[in-house]
Amino acid sequence: MLRLPRRRLFVLGGAALAGTLPAPRISNPFTLGVASGDPLPDAVVIWTRLATRPLEPTGGMPPVSYPVQWQVAEDSRFARVVRSGTGSAEPGSGHSVHVDVRGLRPGRDYFYRFRSGGHLSPVGRTRTAPDESSSPRRLRFAVTSCQSYADGYYEAWRHLVDEDLDVVLFLGDYIYEGAITSVGGARMDTSLRLPDTFALATDTLDLYRMRYALYRTDPDLQAAHAAFPWILTWDDHEVHDNYAGDVSRSPIVTVRDFVVRRANAYRAYWENQPLRVPQPAGPDLSLYRRLRFGDLADVHVLDTRQYRTDQACGDNLEAGCAARSDPSRTLLGAPQRDWLLDGMGRSPARWNLIAQQIMMAECRYGGTANRLDMDKWDGYTADRKRILSRARNLPGTVVLSGDIHYNYAADLRLRPGTPPVAVEFVGTSISSGGDGSDTTPQLETQLKYNPHLHFANGQRGYIRCELDRDTIRADYRVLSRVTRRGGTISTRASFVSERARTGLVPA
Ligand SMILES: [Fe+2]
Repeated sequence: MLRLPRRRLFVLGGAALAGTLPAPRISNPFTLGVASGDPLPDAVVIWTRLATRPLEPTGGMPPVSYPVQWQVAEDSRFARVVRSGTGSAEPGSGHSVHVDVRGLRPGRDYFYRFRSGGHLSPVGRTRTAPDESSSPRRLRFAVTSCQSYADGYYEAWRHLVDEDLDVVLFLGDYIYEGAITSVGGARMDTSLRLPDTFALATDTLDLYRMRYALYRTDPDLQAAHAAFPWILTWDDHEVHDNYAGDVSRSPIVTVRDFVVRRANAYRAYWENQPLRVPQPAGPDLSLYRRLRFGDLADVHVLDTRQYRTDQACGDNLEAGCAARSDPSRTLLGAPQRDWLLDGMGRSPARWNLIAQQIMMAECRYGGTANRLDMDKWDGYTADRKRILSRARNLPGTVVLSGDIHYNYAADLRLRPGTPPVAVEFVGTSISSGGDGSDTTPQLETQLKYNPHLHFANGQRGYIRCELDRDTIRADYRVLSRVTRRGGTISTRASFVSERARTGLVPA
């Protein structure tokens, strides 16, 4: 029997324990770009995920760990590196790397990059939050959501990188879980040929990972991640359309089966985003959190999917549904709701920004008996009332939403005819729904039946917001088209609300 020298045995044993060898040589693993998120005054999370062949299961990566060096510098040429270290890309985490870089200075730009297997990643730029005791003059951010890959090109991201922003808020539907087939999608008439596995709806961990990888191969999306730190939350399509808690929309899917799918989806979500939250164990992931920007703004990031009661009276547009106002039904779950109400009440900030998924303003769709959408806050009026009651005594409450692929600007009132207690900016999709149009008969009907809606629009894009000590301004940036490249961007409408006088006014 061949006996290995002791020294060699020791090296092999040590490597196996560390999980870093044997690591075969790989081609460029940085096909998915880099990202940063959840900025604090002294910290930011930087992220990447190794994938040599991103559209394959495991991203083409061998099932071994790879060491990944990272650097954070004050300059884009990395002459002044201020923090550095080595992480490990593990196969059990989809070869993702999350580094919570600490010891940074507040309100500063930084640059970051990774190195692995002799390859260097693209460079990302990020920005820490201002010092908590400071009084920033302004905060600039974008409200974004809903980027169905098959529905259009990421023209919105291509234009967004030219904006001057402190942070990007992404409010859900980062991926869509449904089958991507060769017909119907805007990108499917091009040379793009996807493996057959993309014609399956996602349910396994591998399929969810591949879906994120497909999206993240897009250069415009990569550029938007590399340009700004992001604060993300999810909506339904990161798991499955219109799910509620542990209940699938599909009546033939049992809770037992659905929680397995949810666990796979949540795990892939965590792996693929620059989040400072514990990685999920099983079907739960604690995503709601608060980020502070000096004494100017507290951003309360909500999760309106994981803890909600199943939709009332079905998932659709309903009229005369009494259950929607049952006080025992909840959108946020009691712990998250109490955390939000408490956080709003205690906030020392001039503004409370509530970053979440679904439209909070009442929205009557017209038609027989004037229907409401049971998947939105209209289906959960008790939680809405609690939040708006708290906002009544707090100047500067702003709700930011996504989900429905339309732009809206709304005053939020406790009852019709009473003064607004908050304002809401609902952002359209990045690409979901294709080109869209400025208006539709449905939008016209909604404007007619909902006098608190100041604006409705059905084009693609994002909202650019600027907050100062006394005013919030929202510019609705819309694209001429997304189903072909070369869409142009313009500001379709602008609104302001004064902290001392809540209510939207055209800017
Ligand atoms: Fe969506």
